Amino acid sequence: MKQYTNDEINVRWDPEKCIHSAECLKCLPGVFDVDKSPWINMEGATSEVIMKAIDRCPSGALSYKKNEKLQAPRDLGQAPPAQIRVMKDGPLLVRGRCALIGENGETIAEEGPFALCRCGRSKNKPLCDGSHKS
Ligand code: SF4
Ligand code: FES
Repeated sequence: MKQYTNDEINVRWDPEKCIHSAECLKCLPGVFDVDKSPWINMEGATSEVIMKAIDRCPSGALSYKKNEKLQAPRDLGQAPPAQIRVMKDGPLLVRGRCALIGENGETIAEEGPFALCRCGRSKNKPLCDGSHKS
């Protein structure tokens, strides 16, 4: 898990959940650029714009947490119900109020978004790791 921060938000990137859809790179190239180090430039846009781009990450690999000043009280009851979308030639994208429990009973994710492998080739099952592309 990698973390990036500015004064207002902490951005987290979990490489194990990334399905390499490049949505973030296309959406905000001034912030997300794999040719740069660090690959996330927290000065490249406002926190608001960065959060909107992260909301488009289909796998949940990117997430953010507002700092205490901006934080609104979290109410899981208000989270949207689970929704599962089939991605063409790709994973099942799960969003909303849905926990993912592993075969040994461990919690892999408390809620969406996350992407479930549908092709059987992921080395990080049950999560998709982008292997379906090959
Ligand atoms: S899954 Fe998320 S972090 Fe990975 S490339 Fe796509 S948008 Fe970026
Ligand atoms: S669906 Fe992406 S690795 Fe299987």
